[in-house]
Amino acid sequence: MIEINHLTKKYGRFTAVKDLSFNVGAGQVVGFLGPNGAGKTTTLRMLTGYLPPTSGTASIAGYDIFKDSIKARSQIGYMPENVPLYDDMRVREYLKFRAQVKGLKGSEARTMTGEAIETCGLSHMRKRMIKTLSKGYRQRVGLADALINKPQLLVLDEPTNGLDPNQIRSIRNLIKKLGEKHTILVSSHILSEVEMIADHIVIIDGGEIKASDTPKNLIDGMRAAGKITAEIQGNGETIQGAISRLNHVKKVTNTAMEKKWNKLDILCESGTDTRERISELSAQYGWQIRTLHRHKGTLEDVFVELTRKD
Ligand SMILES: Nc1ncnc2c1ncn2[C@@H]1O[C@H](COP(=O)(O)OP(=O)(O)OP(=O)(O)O)[C@@H](O)[C@H]1O
Ligand SMILES: [Mg+2]
Repeated sequence: MIEINHLTKKYGRFTAVKDLSFNVGAGQVVGFLGPNGAGKTTTLRMLTGYLPPTSGTASIAGYDIFKDSIKARSQIGYMPENVPLYDDMRVREYLKFRAQVKGLKGSEARTMTGEAIETCGLSHMRKRMIKTLSKGYRQRVGLADALINKPQLLVLDEPTNGLDPNQIRSIRNLIKKLGEKHTILVSSHILSEVEMIADHIVIIDGGEIKASDTPKNLIDGMRAAGKITAEIQGNGETIQGAISRLNHVKKVTNTAMEKKWNKLDILCESGTDTRERISELSAQYGWQIRTLHRHKGTLEDVFVELTRKD
């Protein structure tokens, strides 16, 4: 559905996007992640034909976004970072106007507007002036706008930015539902949210791709995935030594001692689980255990590991 080849954007001497290449298959929901200034919006604006690249190509459903711009753009529903809306129009009136701008006529424009309003849960708000809407509902209007001509591809730039947790949840569910019928490329820095909806994740930083994989593979491949924390009572040095000698254990750090409890960070090979061996050791040596926790790792860990600057 999307093919991006060596896409580069320079603003003067500054390169915001460097030689970016990735593909998105039809029906996929792809999370596009990166810290502030990573180049997400710049990439999405090039993909949607709003910004010419300095070099490289991109195509949507086989149409080159620059050479065959009108056809390519007719396949895309784009929700930009700060949804520009006409405050003095009513929701339905505005969406119908947008349908007409997108080339829909008469009854078709009416039907499609009605469907988009329904899908985005805006029915009870359809007569409201846009300026009286809460931020969450404004985002819904932006989504309805992106949907209105039934594009194959939805490109959403931080759709949950600035929303409260309840609204984030309902927009997330809406995107999940839209993912059943559309290919979606959604940028965000709320990782837990992307983890829940995306089947593929692309992480960029400094305009370059740092990772591109399924959420599961990214998390499994992480260092934190193999970490165990334990609190064990007994001789600290003996405990540390005995656990270090177990299979799959890479490093044991005694991080603190609190009323005879040693707090241990146990780094293991990822994908292994050494908890049973540790409890066997405890029985053998007569130690007491009050915590034995294996960290699963989150997408946030992956993100921080790949993009932190220190
Ligand atoms: N018109 C412009 N002129 C000069 N520099 C720009 C322009 N637009 C963006 N930039 C720079 O390009 C870089 C990438 O910006 P971009 O908006 O694509 O990042 P982003 O990943 O969307 O960030 P955010 O998470 O904050 O939305 C930033 O360093 C930004 O300052
Ligand atoms: Mg942005």
